[in-house]
Amino acid sequence: MNSASNLTQLLLVKALNESSDGIAIVDARKAGFPVIYASKGFENMTGYASAEVMGKNFRLFQGSDTNQSELVLLRSAMAKGEACIATLRNYRKDGTMYWNELCITPVYDDDGLLSHFISIQKNVSAKILLEQQLKTLTNTDPVSGINNRRHFDERFSNLLSIAKRIQSEMSVLLINLDYFKDFNERYGQSAGDECLQKVGRCIAKSFQRTSDCAARFSGEEFSVVSLSSNLEGLHQHIQKLCELVSTLNIPHSDSPHGVVTITIGGIQHLPNRDTTQEELIELANLKLLAATRNGGNCVNILD
Ligand SMILES: Cc1cc2nc3c(=O)[nH]c(=O)nc-3n(C[C@H](O)[C@H](O)[C@H](O)COP(=O)(O)O)c2cc1C
Repeated sequence: MNSASNLTQLLLVKALNESSDGIAIVDARKAGFPVIYASKGFENMTGYASAEVMGKNFRLFQGSDTNQSELVLLRSAMAKGEACIATLRNYRKDGTMYWNELCITPVYDDDGLLSHFISIQKNVSAKILLEQQLKTLTNTDPVSGINNRRHFDERFSNLLSIAKRIQSEMSVLLINLDYFKDFNERYGQSAGDECLQKVGRCIAKSFQRTSDCAARFSGEEFSVVSLSSNLEGLHQHIQKLCELVSTLNIPHSDSPHGVVTITIGGIQHLPNRDTTQEELIELANLKLLAATRNGGNCVNILD
């Protein structure tokens, strides 16, 4: 190697080490894709000295957290010898987690054979945290603290598509706080908000499976949509909810029941191809109206 190319090489290594992102190279010709280079930025990000990772596979940074959806993408790209970007949870030497935006690029030799992969590793934890906070803000009702209507509509549409595809029944509930306007007038708006918060929490607690979505629907009305084919199970959840609300024991002197109560109207329905969200809400609303007309504090569910 002449002195000019020697100088270029030194400069390249120096430049790689100056980058605050991690830069690494693995040997793709050897089993286990061992690390053959890891930059200073990589050391700073992970807390590992580069000598400690030499010859190892980078999966060591995942610890036991190896069931990550983006790994599927990464494995498939690597198997095809293609470039890929994946965001992974990784763990520093001290065990703390950071989000690693990993960008890998294949390197082919003069014979067209895959010889190496190079990577740029970026710590994107701050960005992911912001995205998560934004998502929570976008999906949460600021008063009750549970899901808002926007998120409910989105999840409802999702669950309805699944129910149609797998031919599952679904339940839709509308839950109303009885005599809530009177409550607000007597006890004031902040007591009203607190009451919505407490009841909202009971509803979210009673319907928390991944196939459920509970939300504040409008004003003093909450809604629940859930994939379920078991009417008895649904009644059990509703009973749990009624018990939780009754345990709150929030005084309401303008209600004939003396405390804050709820009324639930709902349906369980096997959707067909043409069933719409609006239709199901309307059916649940009819049940709710009938129950409210009877003085509230009751449940009106029909399949
Ligand atoms: C150049 C390169 C750099 C990599 N860097 C990381 C990394 O920083 N963190 C990580 O979790 N995985 C990294 N990987 C991915 C893992 O080495 C491994 O390919 C991945 O876990 C999927 O393979 P496995 O199913 O055998 O674990 C990197 C892969 C390559 C090719």
